[in-house]
Amino acid sequence: HSVDEIFRAPSLAVSSVLHGGIHHPLLRSYQSSGRNLVKSMFIYPIFITDDPDAEQVISSLPGQKRWGVNKLEGFLGPLVKKGLKGVILFGVPMKMEKDERGTPADDPSTPVIQALKLLSRLFPQLLLAIDVCLCEYTSTGHCGILSHHPNPAHSGAPTLDAEKSAQRIAEVAVAYAKAGAHVVAPSDMMDGRIRAIKLGLMHAGLANRCALMAYSAKFASGLYGPFREAAGTGTSFGNRRCYQFPPTARQLARRALRRDAEEGADFVMVKPGLPYLDIISDATQVCPDLPVAVYQVSGEFAMIHAGAEKGIYGLKEMAFETVESMVRAGASIILSYFTPDFLDWLDEER
Ligand code: PBG
Ligand code: ZN
Repeated sequence: HSVDEIFRAPSLAVSSVLHGGIHHPLLRSYQSSGRNLVKSMFIYPIFITDDPDAEQVISSLPGQKRWGVNKLEGFLGPLVKKGLKGVILFGVPMKMEKDERGTPADDPSTPVIQALKLLSRLFPQLLLAIDVCLCEYTSTGHCGILSHHPNPAHSGAPTLDAEKSAQRIAEVAVAYAKAGAHVVAPSDMMDGRIRAIKLGLMHAGLANRCALMAYSAKFASGLYGPFREAAGTGTSFGNRRCYQFPPTARQLARRALRRDAEEGADFVMVKPGLPYLDIISDATQVCPDLPVAVYQVSGEFAMIHAGAEKGIYGLKEMAFETVESMVRAGASIILSYFTPDFLDWLDEER
Protein backbone atom coordinates (compact mmCIF):
# COMPACT_ATOMS: atom_id res chain seq x y z
CA HIS A 1 0.00 0.00 0.00
CA SER A 2 1.08 3.54 -0.62
CA VAL A 3 0.82 5.89 2.34
CA ASP A 4 -2.05 7.59 0.57
CA GLU A 5 -3.98 4.36 0.14
CA ILE A 6 -3.46 3.41 3.76
CA PHE A 7 -4.81 6.73 4.97
CA ARG A 8 -7.92 6.39 2.85
CA ALA A 9 -8.74 2.70 3.35
CA PRO A 10 -11.45 2.40 6.00
CA SER A 11 -10.93 -1.36 6.25
CA LEU A 12 -7.45 -0.96 7.70
CA ALA A 13 -8.20 -0.20 11.36
CA VAL A 14 -5.02 1.04 13.04
CA SER A 15 -6.16 -0.37 16.38
CA SER A 16 -5.97 -3.90 15.01
CA VAL A 17 -2.17 -3.88 15.07
CA LEU A 18 -1.01 -4.93 18.57
CA HIS A 19 2.30 -6.62 17.87
CA GLY A 20 4.14 -3.33 17.62
CA GLY A 21 3.93 -2.97 21.39
CA ILE A 22 5.49 -6.33 22.26
CA HIS A 23 8.37 -6.92 19.83
CA HIS A 24 11.13 -6.04 22.32
CA PRO A 25 11.65 -7.39 25.85
CA LEU A 26 11.52 -3.93 27.39
CA LEU A 27 8.33 -3.12 25.49
CA ARG A 28 6.82 -6.37 26.78
CA SER A 29 7.64 -5.35 30.33
CA TYR A 30 5.76 -2.08 29.78
CA GLN A 31 2.57 -4.08 29.24
CA SER A 32 2.38 -4.98 32.92
CA SER A 33 1.36 -1.46 33.98
CA GLY A 34 4.45 -1.12 36.13
CA ARG A 35 3.59 -4.26 38.10
CA ASN A 36 6.70 -6.26 37.28
CA LEU A 37 8.04 -9.08 39.39
CA VAL A 38 10.97 -8.03 41.58
CA LYS A 39 13.02 -9.92 44.16
CA SER A 40 11.73 -7.87 47.07
CA MET A 41 8.19 -9.20 46.53
CA PHE A 42 9.24 -12.67 47.65
CA ILE A 43 9.05 -14.11 51.14
CA TYR A 44 10.63 -17.53 51.50
CA PRO A 45 8.93 -20.13 53.79
CA ILE A 46 11.43 -22.04 55.92
CA PHE A 47 10.92 -25.06 58.17
CA ILE A 48 12.87 -25.10 61.42
CA THR A 49 13.11 -28.18 63.56
CA ASP A 50 14.32 -28.87 67.08
CA ASP A 51 17.45 -30.82 66.21
CA PRO A 52 19.96 -27.93 65.95
CA ASP A 53 22.11 -29.72 63.37
CA ALA A 54 19.28 -31.03 61.21
CA GLU A 55 19.24 -30.80 57.44
CA GLN A 56 16.38 -33.14 56.55
CA VAL A 57 15.14 -33.62 53.01
CA ILE A 58 11.35 -33.20 52.62
CA SER A 59 10.39 -35.71 49.98
CA SER A 60 7.08 -34.02 49.09
CA LEU A 61 8.70 -30.61 48.49
CA PRO A 62 11.48 -30.76 45.89
CA GLY A 63 14.66 -29.06 47.12
CA GLN A 64 13.19 -27.98 50.48
CA LYS A 65 14.52 -29.12 53.85
CA ARG A 66 13.83 -28.95 57.56
CA TRP A 67 16.67 -26.98 59.07
CA GLY A 68 18.25 -26.91 62.49
CA VAL A 69 19.23 -23.48 63.85
CA ASN A 70 22.95 -24.26 63.50
CA LYS A 71 22.50 -24.66 59.74
CA LEU A 72 20.67 -21.40 59.10
CA GLU A 73 23.69 -19.19 58.54
CA GLY A 74 25.16 -21.48 55.88
CA PHE A 75 21.80 -21.96 54.21
CA LEU A 76 20.55 -18.37 54.19
CA GLY A 77 23.83 -16.47 53.84
CA PRO A 78 24.23 -17.15 50.10
CA LEU A 79 20.54 -16.39 49.47
CA VAL A 80 20.78 -13.05 51.27
CA LYS A 81 23.78 -12.26 49.04
CA LYS A 82 21.62 -12.99 46.00
CA GLY A 83 18.94 -10.57 47.16
CA LEU A 84 16.70 -12.49 49.55
CA LYS A 85 14.72 -9.85 51.47
CA GLY A 86 12.24 -11.80 53.57
CA VAL A 87 11.58 -15.19 55.14
CA ILE A 88 8.63 -16.71 56.99
CA LEU A 89 9.48 -19.31 59.60
CA PHE A 90 7.52 -22.45 60.47
CA GLY A 91 8.37 -24.47 63.55
CA VAL A 92 8.53 -28.23 63.27
CA PRO A 93 9.12 -29.65 66.76
CA MET A 94 9.87 -33.37 66.64
CA LYS A 95 10.95 -34.03 70.20
CA MET A 96 8.86 -31.58 72.22
CA GLU A 97 5.82 -32.77 74.14
CA LYS A 98 2.59 -31.56 72.47
CA ASP A 99 -0.63 -30.86 74.36
CA GLU A 100 -4.13 -29.42 73.85
CA ARG A 101 -3.07 -25.77 74.13
CA GLY A 102 0.12 -26.04 72.08
CA THR A 103 2.46 -25.30 74.98
CA PRO A 104 5.70 -25.78 72.97
CA ALA A 105 4.70 -22.93 70.59
CA ASP A 106 6.18 -20.26 72.85
CA ASP A 107 8.52 -22.29 75.02
CA PRO A 108 11.77 -20.30 75.14
CA SER A 109 13.58 -23.33 73.67
CA THR A 110 11.18 -23.76 70.75
CA PRO A 111 13.07 -23.78 67.43
CA VAL A 112 11.42 -20.70 65.91
CA ILE A 113 12.20 -18.52 68.93
CA GLN A 114 15.81 -19.68 68.79
CA ALA A 115 15.86 -18.97 65.06
CA LEU A 116 14.34 -15.48 65.41
CA LYS A 117 16.98 -14.47 67.93
CA LEU A 118 19.78 -15.87 65.83
CA LEU A 119 18.61 -14.48 62.49
CA SER A 120 18.03 -10.96 63.84
CA ARG A 121 21.68 -11.02 64.88
CA LEU A 122 23.07 -12.66 61.72
CA PHE A 123 21.03 -10.79 59.10
CA PRO A 124 19.75 -7.54 60.61
CA GLN A 125 18.33 -6.37 57.26
CA LEU A 126 16.36 -9.54 56.53
CA LEU A 127 12.61 -9.25 57.15
CA LEU A 128 11.67 -11.94 59.66
CA ALA A 129 8.07 -13.04 59.40
CA ILE A 130 6.73 -15.91 61.43
CA ASP A 131 3.72 -18.10 60.97
CA VAL A 132 1.62 -18.13 64.11
CA CYS A 133 -0.48 -21.23 64.59
CA LEU A 134 -0.98 -23.98 67.12
CA CYS A 135 -1.23 -27.00 64.80
CA GLU A 136 2.51 -27.72 64.90
CA TYR A 137 2.30 -27.77 68.69
CA THR A 138 -1.07 -29.30 69.65
CA SER A 139 -1.59 -32.97 70.41
CA THR A 140 -4.73 -32.83 68.22
CA GLY A 141 -2.92 -31.30 65.23
CA HIS A 142 -5.68 -28.70 65.01
CA CYS A 143 -4.97 -24.98 64.62
CA GLY A 144 -6.76 -23.90 67.80
CA ILE A 145 -7.98 -25.19 71.14
CA LEU A 146 -10.97 -27.50 70.82
CA SER A 147 -14.24 -26.78 72.54
CA HIS A 148 -15.66 -29.57 74.61
CA HIS A 149 -19.10 -29.02 73.10
CA PRO A 150 -19.73 -31.76 70.60
CA ASN A 151 -20.67 -30.72 67.08
CA PRO A 152 -23.26 -33.26 65.94
CA ALA A 153 -23.27 -31.94 62.38
CA HIS A 154 -19.51 -31.89 62.16
CA SER A 155 -18.89 -34.62 59.58
CA GLY A 156 -15.34 -34.75 60.83
CA ALA A 157 -14.68 -31.13 61.70
CA PRO A 158 -14.45 -30.34 65.42
CA THR A 159 -15.67 -27.13 67.05
CA LEU A 160 -13.05 -24.78 68.39
CA ASP A 161 -13.15 -22.56 71.42
CA ALA A 162 -12.71 -19.31 69.53
CA GLU A 163 -12.02 -17.10 72.51
CA LYS A 164 -9.51 -19.39 74.22
CA SER A 165 -7.80 -20.03 70.89
CA ALA A 166 -7.54 -16.34 69.99
CA GLN A 167 -6.11 -15.51 73.44
CA ARG A 168 -3.57 -18.30 73.22
CA ILE A 169 -2.56 -17.34 69.68
CA ALA A 170 -2.12 -13.71 70.75
CA GLU A 171 0.13 -14.86 73.60
CA VAL A 172 2.27 -16.85 71.16
CA ALA A 173 2.42 -13.97 68.67
CA VAL A 174 3.64 -11.58 71.37
CA ALA A 175 6.37 -14.06 72.37
CA TYR A 176 7.55 -14.16 68.74
CA ALA A 177 7.50 -10.37 68.47
CA LYS A 178 9.62 -10.19 71.64
CA ALA A 179 12.08 -12.67 70.11
CA GLY A 180 12.58 -10.38 67.11
CA ALA A 181 9.83 -11.11 64.55
CA HIS A 182 9.17 -8.12 62.29
CA VAL A 183 5.91 -9.65 61.10
CA VAL A 184 3.58 -12.07 62.84
CA ALA A 185 1.33 -14.01 60.49
CA PRO A 186 -1.52 -15.93 62.08
CA SER A 187 -2.65 -18.81 59.87
CA ASP A 188 -5.03 -20.43 62.34
CA MET A 189 -8.23 -18.74 61.10
CA MET A 190 -9.80 -18.36 64.55
CA ASP A 191 -12.42 -15.62 64.82
CA GLY A 192 -11.15 -12.59 66.71
CA ARG A 193 -7.47 -13.41 66.59
CA ILE A 194 -6.36 -10.34 64.65
CA ARG A 195 -7.86 -8.04 67.25
CA ALA A 196 -6.46 -10.17 70.09
CA ILE A 197 -2.96 -10.12 68.60
CA LYS A 198 -3.04 -6.38 67.90
CA LEU A 199 -4.13 -5.66 71.46
CA GLY A 200 -1.47 -8.04 72.76
CA LEU A 201 1.23 -6.24 70.77
CA MET A 202 -0.04 -2.87 72.02
CA HIS A 203 0.02 -4.02 75.65
CA ALA A 204 3.56 -5.34 75.18
CA GLY A 205 4.63 -2.03 73.65
CA LEU A 206 5.51 -3.77 70.38
CA ALA A 207 2.70 -2.69 68.07
CA ASN A 208 4.90 -0.14 66.32
CA ARG A 209 7.70 -2.66 65.81
CA CYS A 210 5.79 -5.67 64.60
CA ALA A 211 3.45 -5.90 61.62
CA LEU A 212 0.44 -8.15 61.47
CA MET A 213 -0.02 -10.13 58.27
CA ALA A 214 -3.39 -11.86 58.41
CA TYR A 215 -4.02 -15.09 56.56
CA SER A 216 -7.50 -13.68 55.94
CA ALA A 217 -8.85 -15.64 53.01
CA LYS A 218 -7.54 -19.12 53.65
CA PHE A 219 -9.44 -21.90 51.98
CA ALA A 220 -9.77 -25.55 53.04
CA SER A 221 -7.63 -26.77 50.18
CA GLY A 222 -6.30 -30.02 48.83
CA LEU A 223 -3.06 -28.20 48.19
CA TYR A 224 -1.67 -28.25 51.74
CA GLY A 225 -0.69 -31.95 51.69
CA PRO A 226 3.09 -31.57 51.22
CA PHE A 227 3.20 -28.88 53.92
CA ARG A 228 1.41 -31.13 56.39
CA GLU A 229 4.00 -33.79 55.69
CA ALA A 230 6.83 -31.27 56.04
CA ALA A 231 5.51 -29.77 59.27
CA GLY A 232 3.96 -32.89 60.74
CA THR A 233 0.59 -31.18 61.15
CA GLY A 234 -1.76 -33.87 59.97
CA THR A 235 -4.73 -33.84 62.37
CA SER A 236 -5.18 -36.79 64.72
CA PHE A 237 -8.88 -36.74 63.77
CA GLY A 238 -11.30 -34.64 61.73
CA ASN A 239 -10.58 -31.93 59.16
CA ARG A 240 -10.29 -28.16 59.17
CA ARG A 241 -13.56 -27.31 57.41
CA CYS A 242 -15.09 -25.55 60.43
CA TYR A 243 -12.38 -22.88 60.34
CA GLN A 244 -10.94 -22.80 56.81
CA PHE A 245 -13.25 -21.59 54.05
CA PRO A 246 -15.09 -23.71 51.48
CA PRO A 247 -13.52 -23.18 48.02
CA THR A 248 -16.82 -21.69 46.78
CA ALA A 249 -17.01 -19.04 49.52
CA ARG A 250 -16.19 -15.82 47.70
CA GLN A 251 -18.44 -13.60 49.80
CA LEU A 252 -17.27 -15.10 53.08
CA ALA A 253 -13.69 -14.39 51.98
CA ARG A 254 -14.63 -10.76 51.31
CA ARG A 255 -16.16 -10.48 54.79
CA ALA A 256 -13.03 -12.00 56.33
CA LEU A 257 -10.75 -9.60 54.45
CA ARG A 258 -12.79 -6.60 55.54
CA ARG A 259 -13.04 -7.83 59.12
CA ASP A 260 -9.30 -8.46 59.45
CA ALA A 261 -8.51 -5.01 58.08
CA GLU A 262 -10.88 -3.51 60.66
CA GLU A 263 -9.34 -5.61 63.44
CA GLY A 264 -5.89 -4.18 62.77
CA ALA A 265 -4.19 -6.24 60.07
CA ASP A 266 -1.34 -4.44 58.31
CA PHE A 267 -1.44 -6.83 55.34
CA VAL A 268 -3.98 -9.39 54.21
CA MET A 269 -3.23 -12.68 52.55
CA VAL A 270 -5.01 -14.98 50.14
CA LYS A 271 -4.15 -18.69 50.20
CA PRO A 272 -3.72 -20.81 48.09
CA GLY A 273 -2.86 -18.64 45.09
CA LEU A 274 -3.57 -20.01 41.66
CA PRO A 275 -7.12 -21.36 42.19
CA TYR A 276 -8.07 -18.13 44.01
CA LEU A 277 -7.01 -15.30 41.69
CA ASP A 278 -10.49 -13.80 41.86
CA ILE A 279 -10.14 -13.57 45.63
CA ILE A 280 -6.81 -11.72 45.25
CA SER A 281 -8.56 -9.26 43.00
CA ASP A 282 -11.41 -8.94 45.51
CA ALA A 283 -8.88 -8.30 48.28
CA THR A 284 -7.51 -5.27 46.44
CA GLN A 285 -11.05 -3.88 46.28
CA VAL A 286 -12.22 -4.81 49.75
CA CYS A 287 -8.95 -3.63 51.36
CA PRO A 288 -7.78 -0.94 48.92
CA ASP A 289 -5.42 0.57 51.47
CA LEU A 290 -3.59 -2.61 52.51
CA PRO A 291 -0.87 -4.53 50.69
CA VAL A 292 -2.19 -7.88 49.51
CA ALA A 293 -0.07 -11.00 49.93
CA VAL A 294 -0.56 -14.38 48.32
CA TYR A 295 0.75 -17.77 49.41
CA GLN A 296 1.72 -20.07 46.57
CA VAL A 297 1.33 -23.13 48.78
CA SER A 298 3.17 -26.44 48.98
CA GLY A 299 0.78 -28.32 46.71
CA GLU A 300 1.04 -25.64 44.01
CA PHE A 301 4.83 -25.85 44.18
CA ALA A 302 4.80 -29.66 44.08
CA MET A 303 2.27 -29.66 41.24
CA ILE A 304 4.35 -27.30 39.11
CA HIS A 305 7.40 -29.49 39.70
CA ALA A 306 5.49 -32.68 38.89
CA GLY A 307 4.16 -31.26 35.63
CA ALA A 308 7.58 -30.07 34.60
CA GLU A 309 9.02 -33.50 35.32
CA LYS A 310 6.37 -35.01 33.08
CA GLY A 311 7.43 -32.66 30.32
CA ILE A 312 4.13 -30.77 30.25
CA TYR A 313 5.93 -27.39 30.47
CA GLY A 314 9.24 -25.90 31.56
CA LEU A 315 9.64 -25.36 35.30
CA LYS A 316 10.87 -21.79 35.08
CA GLU A 317 8.27 -20.83 32.49
CA MET A 318 5.39 -22.14 34.62
CA ALA A 319 6.80 -20.70 37.84
CA PHE A 320 6.85 -17.27 36.18
CA GLU A 321 3.42 -17.61 34.61
CA THR A 322 1.70 -18.61 37.85
CA VAL A 323 3.39 -16.00 40.03
CA GLU A 324 2.87 -13.27 37.44
CA SER A 325 -0.83 -14.13 37.30
CA MET A 326 -1.00 -13.47 41.04
CA VAL A 327 0.76 -10.13 40.66
CA ARG A 328 -1.61 -9.25 37.81
CA ALA A 329 -4.57 -10.11 40.05
CA GLY A 330 -3.28 -7.60 42.61
CA ALA A 331 -0.76 -9.28 44.91
CA SER A 332 2.34 -7.34 45.85
CA ILE A 333 3.83 -9.86 48.31
CA ILE A 334 4.42 -13.48 47.31
CA LEU A 335 5.16 -16.30 49.71
CA SER A 336 6.69 -19.05 47.61
CA TYR A 337 8.99 -22.05 47.82
CA PHE A 338 10.32 -20.88 44.42
CA THR A 339 11.95 -17.86 46.09
CA PRO A 340 15.57 -19.15 45.79
CA ASP A 341 14.94 -19.99 42.12
CA PHE A 342 13.54 -16.53 41.42
CA LEU A 343 16.63 -14.93 42.98
CA ASP A 344 18.55 -16.57 40.11
CA TRP A 345 15.91 -16.34 37.42
CA LEU A 346 15.28 -12.62 37.92
CA ASP A 347 18.95 -11.99 37.13
CA GLU A 348 18.72 -13.92 33.85
CA GLU A 349 17.70 -12.62 30.43
CA ARG A 350 14.12 -13.57 29.66
C1 PBG B 1 -1.13 -24.29 59.20
C2 PBG B 1 -0.61 -23.84 57.89
C3 PBG B 1 -0.81 -24.49 56.67
C4 PBG B 1 -0.08 -23.80 55.74
C5 PBG B 1 0.53 -22.73 56.37
N1 PBG B 1 0.18 -22.76 57.72
C6 PBG B 1 -1.53 -25.70 56.31
C7 PBG B 1 -2.82 -26.05 56.89
O1 PBG B 1 -3.70 -25.22 57.09
O2 PBG B 1 -2.94 -27.24 57.14
C8 PBG B 1 0.01 -24.18 54.30
C9 PBG B 1 1.28 -23.90 53.66
C10 PBG B 1 1.55 -24.72 52.44
O3 PBG B 1 0.80 -25.63 52.07
O4 PBG B 1 2.58 -24.43 51.83
N2 PBG B 1 -1.71 -23.34 59.97
ZN1 ZN C 1 -2.52 -24.41 61.79
